[in-house]
Amino acid sequence: MAKPKILIVDDEKLVRVSLQQYFEGQGYPVVLAENAAQAAARMGEEQPAVVLLDVRLPDRSGMELLEEWKEAGVGGAVVMMTADPQLDDVKAAIKLGAYDFVSKPLEFDELSVTVENALEASELRRQVRTLRDEVRKRMGYHEVVGDSKTIREVMSFVLKVARSEASTILITGESGTGKDLVAKVLHYESSRAEKPFVAINCSAIPETLLEAELFGHERGAFTDAKALKKGLFEVADQGTLFLDEIGEMSPFLQAKLLRVLEDHSFRRVGGIRDLSADVRVIATSNRDLELAVREKRFREVLFYRLSVVSLTLPPLRERKEDILPLAEFFVRHYSQKFRKPVEGMTPELERALLNYDWPGNIRELKNAIERAMILEESVRLTPTYLPIRVIAPETTRPGGKEAGGSWQTLPDGRRVPRWEIPAGGTSLEEVERMLVEQALKQARGNQSLAARLLAISRDALRYKMKKFQLEETK
Ligand SMILES: Nc1ncnc2c1ncn2[C@@H]1O[C@H](COP(=O)(O)OP(=O)(O)OP(=O)(O)O)[C@@H](O)[C@H]1O
Ligand SMILES: [Mg+2]
Repeated sequence: MAKPKILIVDDEKLVRVSLQQYFEGQGYPVVLAENAAQAAARMGEEQPAVVLLDVRLPDRSGMELLEEWKEAGVGGAVVMMTADPQLDDVKAAIKLGAYDFVSKPLEFDELSVTVENALEASELRRQVRTLRDEVRKRMGYHEVVGDSKTIREVMSFVLKVARSEASTILITGESGTGKDLVAKVLHYESSRAEKPFVAINCSAIPETLLEAELFGHERGAFTDAKALKKGLFEVADQGTLFLDEIGEMSPFLQAKLLRVLEDHSFRRVGGIRDLSADVRVIATSNRDLELAVREKRFREVLFYRLSVVSLTLPPLRERKEDILPLAEFFVRHYSQKFRKPVEGMTPELERALLNYDWPGNIRELKNAIERAMILEESVRLTPTYLPIRVIAPETTRPGGKEAGGSWQTLPDGRRVPRWEIPAGGTSLEEVERMLVEQALKQARGNQSLAARLLAISRDALRYKMKKFQLEETK
């Protein structure tokens, strides 16, 4: 493998030539520059891995050049060379981002070790950069599939907001429309991308714990608080805090949150000191927050504060053009993941996917494709293994076409649409799954209410949700 390139910048010809001979003798390709202007040009053309840079140059100081490179994020480890190393120079150079400092007259053996170390550091940095780019790419909008006018408009707005100074953003949309995904895009496409992205689900945690999670606690603040704990606002400093399901937050915490949003300050539980954090807050809600405001369950001021910048993700049934591109994307994804040579979809499958209205949106589509991909035996994906509700929506839905619009009377006297078993039979499990889903939907994700609708315990509901892989509406 070819050795990495070294750029040598010195106005003294003797120094240049002897260094060149020395490093070329060791097999390194060497590029030379005798002043700052040449050095700047070579840096761009040659992209050396290491630069040996004289502090004093005829046109500009080496320090200035160093500063410029580091500001521009130019790669390459820089080793400064100087005849009179004053301590301040060394400190200043290291602060500016120089890798090391060597003094003249140069000790070649020592220099050689420094250069090797610098190369290693530069290689490490390069790897970190590549890794970071990859993470960004994975998290970036490249992963957001969809070519409908609607989604393109939404995504261009998302990118604009990501790069803006907006400090709070509200994302609304039905379950499974991609709110989590968009929150990540908002972070990874922002100038905060390299700082932490911290997510927490407000409905999954009891109020007192949520407060300690968000704001931290001092040692001894309560019985279990054996040590000081930093809250997520501190952890996410300079980054993004993702508050999923904000509608579930208690009024007390809503007030505390409002204060952070307004003056960036907060206190740990049991603390007396005001702390401050620079955090972008992204909140989501799949419930109707405006309704919650009208019903006084959600603070009006907080609602307005959050919705200064808000975006709504449209349900999949309102952008049917995205169904096939998404399905193709998921087929490719699972064929790689399961190492299964399924390429593409049959026209029957495409028709079935387009005919269904996807109440669970993209998540439901993704799960349906995953399941079908696991079971498929042919080289193209067929509708065989789609969930029954997708293949035959009319026959399995209460009050659907097959039911002929007829009604039946329940034991308690209520009239509901008659639900007949279709000629070809149906699957009890599928029907059960649909009922559980429907109950959750009608209860807007409130599990106690959904359980009551089905006259089962909350634990029984949880069990069924797990069994049917219905994601908790956290
Ligand atoms: N445009 C898209 N392209 C590719 N995948 C997507 C897209 N939108 C959503 N997904 C995928 O669909 C699934 C559901 O999305 P996500 O979790 O973001 O939804 P959500 O709106 O947060 O749902 P919930 O309200 O239930 O939390 C995820 O696996 C996500 O990666
Ligand atoms: Mg979500």
